[in-house]
Amino acid sequence: MQQKELIYEGKGKKIFATEDANLIIAEFKDDLTAFNAQKKGNETGKGALNCKISSLLFELLEKNGIKTHYKKTLDSTHLLCDKVRILPIEVVVRNVATGSLSKRLGIKDGLELPFVLVEFYYKDDVLGDPIINDEHCKILNITQKQEDLDFLKSQARKINTILKDFFIKVNLRLIDFKLEFGINKENQIVLADEISPDSCRFWDKDTNEKLDKDVFRQNLGNVKVAYEEVLKRILSQGA
Ligand code: TMP
Ligand code: ASP
Repeated sequence: MQQKELIYEGKGKKIFATEDANLIIAEFKDDLTAFNAQKKGNETGKGALNCKISSLLFELLEKNGIKTHYKKTLDSTHLLCDKVRILPIEVVVRNVATGSLSKRLGIKDGLELPFVLVEFYYKDDVLGDPIINDEHCKILNITQKQEDLDFLKSQARKINTILKDFFIKVNLRLIDFKLEFGINKENQIVLADEISPDSCRFWDKDTNEKLDKDVFRQNLGNVKVAYEEVLKRILSQGA
């Protein structure tokens, strides 16, 4: 599949057109950003780790009945995916309080939540990705359909169950994660973007060691070593 013009560049990926109008190529970058890009870094090989981890997790989810944009892996940093119109919502799923939830509401860091929390954030760097509710989504005209918002939440919960059950088998607690969805050419909402240690929090089940982008955000050690450990554990279980 021939790579054509760059159509979008985000903090972690570049999206290229292909000769097929319905397909794009996602290139995973080595760049790392945090706190709305106020903190920047670069780790050689990070893009390839996220590319591999994302492809394995998309395959795991597809096997479990979740529709995703993922088609196939082209090489170590490139995935072929369906072209979708990304909804400007970051769907965050939380099993354990930490990060911005603990900060915003004063909930003790590490507290297991009494139920799975699903939140929407408006994907807008200038506004700093503010938290929004269903009514805000309609006012912003992200969608007018309550059924779409309900579908995002139910898919996010299903994805959480599949991933949480998978990761606990490799001694990783899935603390929280961020998903993005898009609309494909059949007008269906499908999971898009990536699922990687950039967009998830993983804590070791025995030690609570952080094995995700918090290593970079909080200067806890070597990011690549942490991401390699996540990939090693996924491969040991065979996603
Ligand atoms: P938060 O606690 O900072 O709101 O993050 C919740 C989850 O979402 C965490 O797993 C990291 C992920 N996330 C992203 O993927 N991108 C972002 O821009 C932010 C803020 C969080
Ligand atoms: N991805 C976001 C950024 O760069 C925030 C984060 O993941 O902490 O700015």
